[in-house]
Amino acid sequence: MSTLAGKHIVLGLSGGIAAFKSAELCRALVKAGVTVQVVMTEAAEKFMTAVTMQALSGRPVYTSQWDPREANNMAHINLSREADAIVVAPASADFMAKLLHGGADELLSLMCLARPIDQVPLIVAPAMNREMWSNPATQRNVAQLKADGIHVLDVGQGDQACGETGDGRMLEAEEILEDLEAFFTPKVMSGKQVLVTAGPTYEAIDPVRGITNLSSGKMGFAIARAARMAGASVTLVAGPVHLPTPRGVQRFDVRSARQMLNAAVLHADAADVFIATAAVADWRPAHSADQKIKKDGSGQTPELSFVENPDILATIAQSPRGASGDLFCVGFAAESHDLLAHATAKRLRKGVPLLVGNIGPATFGQDDNALLLVDASGARELPHASKQALAVQLIDDIAVRLTR
Ligand code: CTP
Repeated sequence: MSTLAGKHIVLGLSGGIAAFKSAELCRALVKAGVTVQVVMTEAAEKFMTAVTMQALSGRPVYTSQWDPREANNMAHINLSREADAIVVAPASADFMAKLLHGGADELLSLMCLARPIDQVPLIVAPAMNREMWSNPATQRNVAQLKADGIHVLDVGQGDQACGETGDGRMLEAEEILEDLEAFFTPKVMSGKQVLVTAGPTYEAIDPVRGITNLSSGKMGFAIARAARMAGASVTLVAGPVHLPTPRGVQRFDVRSARQMLNAAVLHADAADVFIATAAVADWRPAHSADQKIKKDGSGQTPELSFVENPDILATIAQSPRGASGDLFCVGFAAESHDLLAHATAKRLRKGVPLLVGNIGPATFGQDDNALLLVDASGARELPHASKQALAVQLIDDIAVRLTR
């Protein structure tokens, strides 16, 4: 379940063309189980109607500090007291300048100023033209807003409504949603560097053929995402998969087991935790042909012989940092039967403190799974759930082990 579920968020819109993304954001927040109270400035209403935002949020929108619906006529106090956070998206250059100076000449800025600073975080998603964004005045304001404890989200990069291209446009709704979810996630991995391998590897037979397996990479990507949400800085070494990079995660794409080994060894040096979820091909063709192998019409099939691939997890777990425990190594075991017995044996064989077992054929490509955590003292089951939810539980479990 999303960390946003059950939260009450005041979604503020100031004036900017990015307001159309706020409609999507509002919808996504409601879908995540958030109650959304929309507050709009007069300028915001030039870009988006209050009717649209009311329909999407399911609550009347506030646009004026003189709103007579509030019995005490203090919308700015009432709205900010019941919020878990105020999110201003889009936050225009002008609105940020106003926040900086404690301006309060309309409801949204008045409410931001009147919020109990220690209890109601203020998160802003800037949205503006690239020249406005890079202007020293704006950059000065952003720095000061951050120093004042306001959470300023990144800006997006690319085509802008004005026809120019550059930094300054507002993040997409799903990116803001990810950042908000991360904001509310307890930072149990704060300051930690986490390295994850994910997906299958592909071992070439010739330039057009190879051997691989059915791993989708979903579990590893979910773990990378959960670790980042928990405050870690995350490096993801991914085999060939069709998955978007989790927000805030540094990703390196590789193809073969040997490329994955090189990338993992390189990044293991700085890591505190290594989680090997990749379904690495056990063997590769002994020879990879430079040119496509052609049928010669004789009916003869080509002779293929294989050599064993390096074991990435064992190599890193048995390196000095892995063996001493400075680098906490976690293995995965994809088994088809006798999960506990195989996972227990594999943990010892690989030399890792924690091995996570799952039934491979049942989980490849699926969005859910069940995990068995095996360590020196026994086994614990994480029952059937979405891979996202299991990833969060696994990261929480690893975080506890790091403090022991
Ligand atoms: N692994 C690895 N490099 C390999 C093979 C496996 O890093 N060449 C890692 C996987 O990422 C996983 C763990 O080792 O974390 C176990 O992988 P699995 O394929 O289940 O085990 P194998 O070592 O291949 O053992 P077996 O073939 O006996 O099941």
